Amino acid sequence: MLFLIEHQSTFINEWINMSVIENDDPHKAEIEKNAVTMYGLLIKALSDTYSEAELQEFAYKVGKQRLEAGINIGDFIFNVNTGRSILIKYCFQAQLPHHELESFVNNLNSLFDSFCYHAVKRYTQLKNRELHTKTKYINENHMDKLAILGQISSSFVHEFRNPLTAIIGFNKILRDEYPDLKYLDIIQHELNELNFRITQFLHTSKTEIVKKGKENVAIDLLFDNLKQLCYASTVDNKINLTIDKAKPLFLYTFKDELKQVLLNLIMNSIDALKQRSSSRELRISTTKNAKEVIFVISNNGPMIEEENTKTIFEPFYTTKELGTGIGLFVCKQIIEKIGGTIYCKSDENWTSFFIHHPISS
Ligand SMILES: Nc1ncnc2c1ncn2[C@@H]1O[C@H](COP(=O)(O)OP(=O)(O)O)[C@@H](O)[C@H]1O
Ligand SMILES: [Mg+2]
Repeated sequence: MLFLIEHQSTFINEWINMSVIENDDPHKAEIEKNAVTMYGLLIKALSDTYSEAELQEFAYKVGKQRLEAGINIGDFIFNVNTGRSILIKYCFQAQLPHHELESFVNNLNSLFDSFCYHAVKRYTQLKNRELHTKTKYINENHMDKLAILGQISSSFVHEFRNPLTAIIGFNKILRDEYPDLKYLDIIQHELNELNFRITQFLHTSKTEIVKKGKENVAIDLLFDNLKQLCYASTVDNKINLTIDKAKPLFLYTFKDELKQVLLNLIMNSIDALKQRSSSRELRISTTKNAKEVIFVISNNGPMIEEENTKTIFEPFYTTKELGTGIGLFVCKQIIEKIGGTIYCKSDENWTSFFIHHPISS
């Protein structure tokens, strides 16, 4: 003990010199003081006068300082262990009798282990709290943006839809009155396409399952309807669409929402396939087991990297020049509200989206 007291400053200097300390550490001045406190605790431990509570309080303080300093926790552990090693080295040099050496090393280890445990525990607790606050902020921020986007898009849709409905109506009257007038069918087709796009835009930004309840949906009729809706896009882009509807299948579900999800996935597939020069394939299939119906929407477009297969479902993630990045986010919200799951698998050949839709009794 006397030996420890005599060599305090040599030991502390060596410890500080061998430690990893950043120049911009805001608690740099505290580090040496902490080393002195630790040394004091060791002397107390050797004379049996220290309390665990005192050590814990000290360790918590250091844990907090290390978090504020933004250090790497590995560096911190390294520094603590460096102190331990130096002390052991000194003790061997002092040539203590065997039983004293043993008791010293035991005390030293238990003190340093306890210190490390409490400091790292505190550090991790605080770090997690910090992370939680940040995630919460990000989520709230996303939600705000989504709400604004929802408002903009629904007013946008209504501003456009009313005149469009009028134009479609008058065009129809014109066709009836002048059946031989050229180009009216083309106008009709383009107007329908525009109407569809606008409706789809409204759908992608709407997450609430509203108004209508569940109903019994004939899946093959739903597919026929989807096929019609995207007919123009598949033909224009020379996409071979295959729908595998093996048997008549009914599903008790929210029809409009399910349609919206499938339409979103189909539109994304069409966008992806445009990046391919030929043999564009889009396949839709369903399988059924006792608990669920599984929809698979696949295309042979570009691969989605493994690490992105989850990110694509985050709001505002988009790789398209005019993308909104909310389509898949809304799909996920809807499917989860229905009690199902949606995920993506992709390799060099195929990109597939799977929807597991529960069958309610
Ligand atoms: N079938 C697909 N093949 C390749 N990438 C896809 C596919 N579907 C979605 N993605 C990727 O996921 C992103 C997010 O899609 P989405 O949420 O629908 O937003 P947006 O279509 O507006 O970009 C897309 O920008 C694209 O990078
Ligand atoms: Mg999309």
